[in-house]
Parts: sequence; structure tokens; C-alpha cells
Amino acid sequence: MMRSSPTGRADSATRTSPAARTVVRPFFGVNSRLTKLSTKAEPFFRRYRYPDWLETHSRTVGAITEALLAGRRPGAPRIEGEAVVLAGYLHDVGRSPLLAGDPRDHNILSGLVLAAEGLDACVELARRHAIYTVLDPDLVPRTAEEKLVYVADRRGGQVVEPLEERARDTAQRNPRYATEIERAIPLAKAIEREVFSDVSFPPEDLEEKVR
Ligand SMILES: [Fe+2]
Repeated sequence: MMRSSPTGRADSATRTSPAARTVVRPFFGVNSRLTKLSTKAEPFFRRYRYPDWLETHSRTVGAITEALLAGRRPGAPRIEGEAVVLAGYLHDVGRSPLLAGDPRDHNILSGLVLAAEGLDACVELARRHAIYTVLDPDLVPRTAEEKLVYVADRRGGQVVEPLEERARDTAQRNPRYATEIERAIPLAKAIEREVFSDVSFPPEDLEEKVR
């Protein structure tokens, strides 16, 4: 298993970045508790000293969770939307430079930080988000919420990307994990299919839905 997982930086920056858009985007109506969760994430970006690439990536993944929630089919099983969206924005807090030098995997550190911050509902979603968790029986995403955040991170680098493109780009930047990432791709794609079976648009339309 990876001791230090791949960095999330520098994917194709030619497409529209959620960081360049308005931070607070209402969805599900003005009264929704899900509204403004990106605002709730803001203090974490500052307090944990997110570098620009990590903040952009986190906003991308958060925006993907919003789109996947907004696109859920009528009748799809109910999921904990607030935890999913907040975990989308904060899943990589374990990559904070404040934790540099800690040998534990960043997803494990994310879970610990979120538990310490009292965000209990986000802990397992963050712990199980990394691409290689599908290879580990102790970390594989189990619930609909965990799978949704896992897929959001598979599709979001600095911008929305296809799953295989993002995974192979990650492997190129982290060649010693390339074999493990390659093994994870088909399992990740199966989870992507499962998540999108509850969504009213296909995976290839995600980029357009996140705009
Ligand atoms: Fe991530």
C-alpha cells in the first residue's frame, strides 16, 4: 500500500476551474442546508494553509459532489448530502503542509483531522477516498456516500477529467505507484458506474454539469 500517496497537482489546467468561479453557489433551493457548504470549508483552507493547487483541487471535487447530488434521480436512495459535500471540499485536508513529514497516508490523516474538528460524518468519507482504497478490504468505500466522494475525487483534478485520464496522469507523476493505480482503475470505474446509476446524467456530461 502506498505510504505517501500521489499529489493532486497540475492536471490539465486548460479547462474551466471551479476556483475561478463564484465560491458560493446556491443549489437545491435557497432554503437547503446544503447551500453554502463551500463557505464552511473556507476557514479550513486558511487554517490548514492549503497551497493554491490543493485549494483548486478541493473546490473542484466539492463542486463535483454538488453536481452529483443535484443530479440524483427521483427515487434514488436518500444519502447524507451535507456530509458528502463537506467531505468533497475537505477530503484532502491530510495533505496540508502542516502535516508534512507524517508518514501516514494522506487519506488516513484527513480522517484524523476531520475527527479532531468534530466533523464525524465526514471522517470515513475522507478515509476511503484515495484511488488505492479499492484494493484494501479495510478501506474500500462501502456506503453510497463514501462511493460518491470516491468518484468525485476520481473525476476531479484541477478541473473535471475522465477517470482513466486522471488516474494515469497521477500514475505518471508518481511512477512507483503506477502498478497499484493501474490495478485500481477497473474497480474505480465499477464504482463510477454504480454512482452514476443513481444520477440522471451520464459520466461524460459531468464536466458540463459542474460549470
Ligand atoms: Fe483529492
